[in-house]
Amino acid sequence: MTFDTVAADRPLRAVVVGAGFIGGQWAPELLAHPGTELVGWVDVAEDLARAAAGKLGLDDLAVGSSLTAVLDGEEPDFIVNCTTPQAHHDVTVTALRRGVAVLSEKPMAVTLDEARSMVKAADEARRLFAVNQNRRFMPTLVAFRRTVADLGPLGLLTSEFFMPYRGRPFLDTLEHPLLQDMAIHLFDAARAVSGADPISVYCESFRPAWTWYPGACSATAIFEMTGGLRYTFAGSWSAPGQPTSWTGSWRAAGTHGTARWDGDGHPPTVEAAKGLVLRPYAPEGDPFPDRRRFTGLAEGLEEFVTGLRTGRPPQGECHDNIRSLAMVTAALESARTGARVPIVT
Ligand SMILES: NC(=O)c1ccc[n+]([C@@H]2O[C@H](COP(=O)([O-])OP(=O)(O)OC[C@H]3O[C@@H](n4cnc5c(N)ncnc54)[C@H](O)[C@@H]3O)[C@@H](O)[C@H]2O)c1
Repeated sequence: MTFDTVAADRPLRAVVVGAGFIGGQWAPELLAHPGTELVGWVDVAEDLARAAAGKLGLDDLAVGSSLTAVLDGEEPDFIVNCTTPQAHHDVTVTALRRGVAVLSEKPMAVTLDEARSMVKAADEARRLFAVNQNRRFMPTLVAFRRTVADLGPLGLLTSEFFMPYRGRPFLDTLEHPLLQDMAIHLFDAARAVSGADPISVYCESFRPAWTWYPGACSATAIFEMTGGLRYTFAGSWSAPGQPTSWTGSWRAAGTHGTARWDGDGHPPTVEAAKGLVLRPYAPEGDPFPDRRRFTGLAEGLEEFVTGLRTGRPPQGECHDNIRSLAMVTAALESARTGARVPIVT
């Protein structure tokens, strides 16, 4: 992967696209970062962008419903794509083709074909395109990842995600709401924690008798990963009690022992195999206590800005992140066909 850096001696100019929930979280990050400047806000519903800018006291900010008009008028270095997943492809490719780098919300796209064409557009434009998987920056996930790294070659990684959730009406419209919306967070975390990449998956997605969702809100999946690792996932949006955290509940077993993590604010625990000694890593302090708003946005922006300035790719760089999306799309294909599906990007 090769992308051009920005050498100009001035803050990086950024436009937020999408003025819904997460757009409203990203704009303050761009205002707070000493190396970025918010120069525009786009939403197909222009009044939403205007209202969101007004809420932050930015009455003079360039806002509009036309992405191309704001890009041409403001000449940003990058956009933050905060639109709904169905719009991710068009918004990202439009920016890349105009020479504008893209930091996107998850998921990269809805389909793998869309994602491939986005990666190709980034390559052709020589522009940085990354997806911010904000949970990668949770201090307890980082501590779990470091603890797992001491387990030696891994054999098993499991995560359970159980939530009695009914908060967003659009989930009712999805055929597989758990796999299509939430699972990418857990699947990407599995890659981050293990350092392994997916090879194939067998998945079932279904409706338990008691669920309040029209779609298949529950799923189990077995992923074969590189190094012989098996990653298993079980989850439900319709948990009848005993919820896990929003990042699930985790166990990793390797040659040297077992580590566990509650997916939340508690540090990981570890037990060494007989005759060995292992200690869990402690979570480190918040690197951005003054800028903390929404988990993992400040860190993701920092890595992206560093990438644009130095050429060092951030964690969610598109050639890497497409593998997390491929876990979702292959799991969906397996759920629909009943077959074990190879994972190729
Ligand atoms: N990382 C996280 O924890 C997290 C949390 C919430 C949302 N998200 C992700 O952020 C994205 C947005 O979610 P949200 O909850 O903010 O949604 P939302 O519906 O609140 O906001 C999306 C906005 O995008 C606008 N939009 C849609 N198509 C557009 C287009 N082509 N051009 C410009 N604007 C367009 C809509 O009008 C809307 O205002 C989704 O991909 C979602 O998965 C991530």
